Amino acid sequence: MKKNIGNRFAFYPTPVIVAGAFVDGKPDFTLVAHIGIVSHDAALISLNKAHYINRGIKQNKVLSVNIVDESWLGQAAAAGGISGQNADKSSLFHYTRGASNAPIIDEAKLSMECVVEDVYEIGAFENFIVKVVNTFAEESILTESGKPDYQKFKPVLFEMPNYTFLKTGDTLGGCKSFLKKI
Ligand SMILES: Cc1cc2nc3c(=O)[nH]c(=O)nc-3n(C[C@H](O)[C@H](O)[C@H](O)COP(=O)(O)O)c2cc1C
Repeated sequence: MKKNIGNRFAFYPTPVIVAGAFVDGKPDFTLVAHIGIVSHDAALISLNKAHYINRGIKQNKVLSVNIVDESWLGQAAAAGGISGQNADKSSLFHYTRGASNAPIIDEAKLSMECVVEDVYEIGAFENFIVKVVNTFAEESILTESGKPDYQKFKPVLFEMPNYTFLKTGDTLGGCKSFLKKI
């Protein structure tokens, strides 16, 4: 029998991303794990109002969303360990300006350039509703038909209860192959 463990927030694991935005013309990069899909073409990025990057996202209405994999996890963690308020994080990564002028992290194998559609404030958080305008991917992580291949590309996941990073694993198989006949 399952035990009731109270109102523990158990929406984990979540993918880990580094958000990038120009703040007063200089890039800032911030580690974010509270992200979510809210429709087939919109996502939510939840950022504490105190974070430095928020100002740049609101200034330009554009940000990069760089999916973290193990190859650059150390640098990504550094982006979550100190605020742009107290340190210049502009040289933490190599970056290229995207077509919509967001700083795209070169170390990331998969990055999206996103425009801000809306902001919902909840408590201490600004929740940015974003839409993807450009996606940049290393060819080495794509299938022959040009889609991300999650056998080759392994995003890092995060879980808050034990404050750990996790690996994504093996492919189980096509979704339709699991349909049980009723
Ligand atoms: C594993 C991890 C996950 C994090 N996830 C979030 C998050 O989802 N939302 C958030 O507001 N801050 C999150 N943070 C904290 C920010 O990354 C951190 O406070 C950062 O220094 C803020 O940088 P900035 O002030 O330059 O924007 C996370 C930090 C770590 C280490």
